[in-house]
Amino acid sequence: MKVSYHYPVLLWDSVEGLLTNPEGIYVDATFGGGGHAEAILAHLSPYGSLYAIDKDPEAPFHRIQDQRCRTIRGDFRDIEALLARQGVTAVHGILADLGISSHQVDTGDRGFSYRKEALLDLRMDPTTGEPAYRWLQRQTPTRLAAILRTYGDLPKSRRLAEVILQRWHTGFTTKALAECAYLVYGRAADRYLSPLFQAIRIAINDELGALDALLNAADNLIMPGGRLVVLTYHSGEARLLKAHLRRPHQIHPITGQQAFLWRLLRKVSPSPAEVQSNPRSRSATLWIAEKL
Ligand SMILES: C[S@@+](CC[C@H](N)C(=O)[O-])C[C@H]1O[C@@H](n2cnc3c(N)ncnc32)[C@H](O)[C@@H]1O
Repeated sequence: MKVSYHYPVLLWDSVEGLLTNPEGIYVDATFGGGGHAEAILAHLSPYGSLYAIDKDPEAPFHRIQDQRCRTIRGDFRDIEALLARQGVTAVHGILADLGISSHQVDTGDRGFSYRKEALLDLRMDPTTGEPAYRWLQRQTPTRLAAILRTYGDLPKSRRLAEVILQRWHTGFTTKALAECAYLVYGRAADRYLSPLFQAIRIAINDELGALDALLNAADNLIMPGGRLVVLTYHSGEARLLKAHLRRPHQIHPITGQQAFLWRLLRKVSPSPAEVQSNPRSRSATLWIAEKL
């Protein structure tokens, strides 16, 4: 498999954390370039199966030719319905490698990168929803500032929101957005460009809403003893996941004792060597949880 589409992050830890039964049924909810999917298949027996999902119409599903793998173009927020259509109602494990693929960042006309001039689109599935350049027209400074602060941890978020909204009518492109950061932060802007693009991307794709739906579906789909394996890339995702895993499933009406659905087995960060060879892994955290 060609890996230039996307270098999979924490590949072996993810696959080892996910697989409990080589004959099991697994889901890769974020196929991307198929790096994790391929490694999962390499460790399944001829009787195991993998359902691979991605919402991006450019996801290269054709790269995997394996009878044990079914590919599904769709949003993982609908995972229960997507699997039910395949006759699947219970699985041994789900992997979700959140965020965007290197291909999405590197493809200039998708508007994900401040390095390439393009209309500021930022949709993972450009066939539905609203591109960022249109969405921005509907924002108020207060709302946009809250998004920049919450999803990007950006300082001076109110000022930045005002500058963006004053300038959007000049044609909203990736470079125009980057210029707003330079106007607000001066030479320090370089370090805020990624979080700025990330914040708007998270908002327009409703990424935390999709993650919440996936986590609720995982409660129903994953069999006891099965695994939920998630790679998060920013604090909002990590907070949502942690809160979900810690949420009591039941509280005994008399004793008040709490019963939990999930046990966090381990949390893994990329090694310095992985970060050096794949800088996009630097903000990753791998969470491996077991269904009780
Ligand atoms: C970090 S990449 C996955 C890379 C993959 N693990 C690999 O090894 O190549 C994330 C992928 O998830 C997809 N994605 C993000 N949110 C999604 C959602 N709500 N539903 C389906 N796919 C989603 C993106 O389109 C992107 O291709």
